[in-house]
Amino acid sequence: MMLELRKLTAAYGKAIALEGVDLQIAQGELVTVLGPNGAGKSTLLKVVSRALPSQGTLEFEGQSLHRYSTEQVVGRGICHCPEGRRLFAELTVLKNLQLGAYLRRDKAAVAADFERVYSLFPILAERAQQIVGTLSGGQQQMVAIGRALMGAPKLLLLDEPSVGIAHRLKLEIFDAIRKICDDGVAILMAEQDAQSALGIADRAYVLEHGHVAQQGSAAELGKDDRVRRIYLGVG
Ligand SMILES: Nc1ncnc2c1ncn2[C@@H]1O[C@H](COP(=O)(O)OP(=O)(O)OP(=O)(O)O)[C@@H](O)[C@H]1O
Ligand SMILES: [Mg+2]
Repeated sequence: MMLELRKLTAAYGKAIALEGVDLQIAQGELVTVLGPNGAGKSTLLKVVSRALPSQGTLEFEGQSLHRYSTEQVVGRGICHCPEGRRLFAELTVLKNLQLGAYLRRDKAAVAADFERVYSLFPILAERAQQIVGTLSGGQQQMVAIGRALMGAPKLLLLDEPSVGIAHRLKLEIFDAIRKICDDGVAILMAEQDAQSALGIADRAYVLEHGHVAQQGSAAELGKDDRVRRIYLGVG
């Protein structure tokens, strides 16, 4: 397994946010984490990127991540595209993308990754000199994903990439996410739009109150009565 969580627990002070979570991601997989507000989806991503301490097994490529800092985790190949995007709104698209590569010294590969980001999101090439704060929400999300890709991830963590985005751009972004995975980057994606997420994911976990309530292939969960009722709003 590329990523392995077993009996993973995390808390904010005394408030437990994740309890006994088991989750695995294999190389090349696109895994989505569904669940209501407050279920612990963002917390899960923060734990993997080491932005929040945790207890239990947290392994990447067979090695525990517990002694790694957030920066060291990026160096190991895990890049986090956080909730709310966290871009530098007053800087250009280009500068934001460059900042995603700040730990890298492999100039030729960085240049190739710029091309990859611009081919996934052609609008970003056109808008390279535009101040990010003046882009639409969907375009900003593209910058956020692009910036994470500029870190050369083996595993990309995406926190609700579709939130607050117009339908057409949303489809474009989900297509791009699938493509990133098909090009060899494993993805762990928290998402509230279960329909779109299950449409591109290989497997899914449903988090509720900090624990895994359901899991399975995206196809299985898409047909599951409970998932359909609660998360797809049908039946
Ligand atoms: N910085 C924080 N300090 C204290 N409690 C927090 C903090 N961040 C999250 N929590 C709590 O941890 C629990 C899980 O929150 P989390 O943000 O992981 O949920 P989520 O599934 O991402 O929700 P959403 O869909 O709204 O983004 C919630 O009860 C939340 O109130
Ligand atoms: Mg969240």
